[in-house]
Amino acid sequence: MIDLHCHILPGIDDGAKTMEESLAMAESAIGDGITHVVATPHASSEYKFEYERVRTKRDELQAMLGERLQLATGCDFHLNPENLAALKKSPEQFCLNQKDYLLVEFNEFSIPPAMDQMIHQLQLAGLRPIVTHPERNGILRAKPERLAQWVRVGCYGQITAGSLLGTFGPGAKSDALSWISQGLIHFVSSDAHNTRSRPLSLRPAFDFVAVQFGEETARGLFVDNPRAAFEGRALPYVPEVAERREPKIRKRFFFF
Ligand SMILES: [Fe+2]
Repeated sequence: MIDLHCHILPGIDDGAKTMEESLAMAESAIGDGITHVVATPHASSEYKFEYERVRTKRDELQAMLGERLQLATGCDFHLNPENLAALKKSPEQFCLNQKDYLLVEFNEFSIPPAMDQMIHQLQLAGLRPIVTHPERNGILRAKPERLAQWVRVGCYGQITAGSLLGTFGPGAKSDALSWISQGLIHFVSSDAHNTRSRPLSLRPAFDFVAVQFGEETARGLFVDNPRAAFEGRALPYVPEVAERREPKIRKRFFFF
């Protein structure tokens, strides 16, 4: 399996605090059957993304791990106008393994219509946006049609492995499951932050998806699609998006 989204690098953001913790997370990944990990530190109002620093930390950790686990870098990219300006200058620094897929995270409190324009700009620039953990975003959970529309125009969806196991509550779990069945999800990643509450693990979620949707879907979401994104290729597993279900219109009675 390949993990496209995690915070394994030490002392960069709210992920691993020390190199020891990074190494423990790497050991957890190896034990879980993960072969490649993309370290994706935040780029947000809280955490500035400094590519050179990210690469230096990656190199240090890779040197300690040798060939046991392949490390690459990307970014957990918070979509806002400032970040977009930085991205335009050097897009590859933010993309997964410096190819063309980009993790895109949305504000939990408001997603203005201008976001649709920003996504379009990313695509015009030749990038392939991946919407990260929509099942943990209250706005997208309330208006899933927004996610469906982005997927219809060529974006991809990534859910967090823990969501499938109930780590983020029953609502996130049920939305994650129903969006997989609707063809809105293309990746499952760990979004690991530490060794305890947010571990670098995919195997239990893989097994769960294999039981719920079959082995082929699990391979698509955890192995084949992540590998393609890692290598900058078109995704091999792109399910058809379910037709939009019109909201039920209640009959209204008018009294005169
Ligand atoms: Fe993240």
